[in-house]
Amino acid sequence: MADKFIIQMRPWFGEEEKRALCEYMDEEGFITEFKRTERFEQMIAEYTGARHCIVVNNGTISLTLAAIATGIQAGDEVLVPNFTMIATPNSVKMFGAVPVFVDVEETTLCMDIELARKAITSKTKAIMLVAANGRYPKAGIAAFEALAVEKGIMLIEDAAQSLGSIYPDGRHIGRAGIIGSFSFSAPKIISTGQGGALITDDDRIASTLRRLKDFGRASGGNDVHNSIGYNFKFTELQACIGIEQMKKLPARVARKKEIWQRYRDGLDNMAEIRLFEHDLRYTVPWFIDALVERRDELQAFLKGHGIGTRVMYPPINKQKAYGVFGNHPVSEHVGREGLWLPSATQLSDQDIERVCAMIRRFYE
Ligand SMILES: Cc1ncc(COP(=O)(O)O)c(C=O)c1O
Repeated sequence: MADKFIIQMRPWFGEEEKRALCEYMDEEGFITEFKRTERFEQMIAEYTGARHCIVVNNGTISLTLAAIATGIQAGDEVLVPNFTMIATPNSVKMFGAVPVFVDVEETTLCMDIELARKAITSKTKAIMLVAANGRYPKAGIAAFEALAVEKGIMLIEDAAQSLGSIYPDGRHIGRAGIIGSFSFSAPKIISTGQGGALITDDDRIASTLRRLKDFGRASGGNDVHNSIGYNFKFTELQACIGIEQMKKLPARVARKKEIWQRYRDGLDNMAEIRLFEHDLRYTVPWFIDALVERRDELQAFLKGHGIGTRVMYPPINKQKAYGVFGNHPVSEHVGREGLWLPSATQLSDQDIERVCAMIRRFYE
């Protein structure tokens, strides 16, 4: 029998999610967000240690809301890494703010603090720091917090890929900034199909976020609007799934770390492929990211042998969507050689061995 295709990433739902959905449907609820959404928010707040959690419809809108809630306006500049999912800059571009691209550190792929410092102008209002694949900047999060204070700008954390990862000081990633944002899209460590969450310790910002996501309503259930707002609400169906997924998160965090370690051992001593490092005491490898020689050939070879991979994000300033002038050698290098190996939490040890063996065979 032919080996099954190893997909690069897939979400993972089980009987528990199915049962939770069926039970909810029997209650004849309104499906719009209510008690289960509150429970899901509470679980995320407890897990991350944040005072407040507010869930929204996805992890792009969550960033947009974070920016609006902290007072960023059209024309303001926001520093973003040049290596990230394009949602990071798009989230502020959406309302006319200007994303300014900053290159990333070679080892972590998080924003380079010295380049960030140079990119700050009188128009800069915030740094949107992305924890790339769960990692934090080598320069240290404290250095970014200090830079934000020194320059009088805000630190917002795009932790979309980083649920389960912490800073060495013990804080969950997303808690250093005034607001931290997560995504529950299909490839994430837990998923609700689509979905995003914001965490903050600031009571005023939390209530602004709640108002903004619900048409600017002064309070639930009425039609009094003292400020502009939108409709970025969640649903109880997503919350039913999210609650069950949160229960599985600790086991997934542990398995992701094992998977990375197995790849690390399986690809040891190879000059042609270099995995990005993780300090497994703190960070959770969401995707297995690597720089590889002859990337496109390797990708085609693996595909031909039933193994799916994904090319890592191209440098954003060079994407047609932006086309902004600038030299960003690290993100450009990743754009040429970066490859995500199969990274689903469901991967078996045998799957990983097969991938490693195939990679070795390609380079031999
Ligand atoms: C770093 C980063 N920011 C933002 C997003 C956007 O999240 P969503 O797909 O939930 O809109 C993603 C999603 O992949 C991401 O990886």
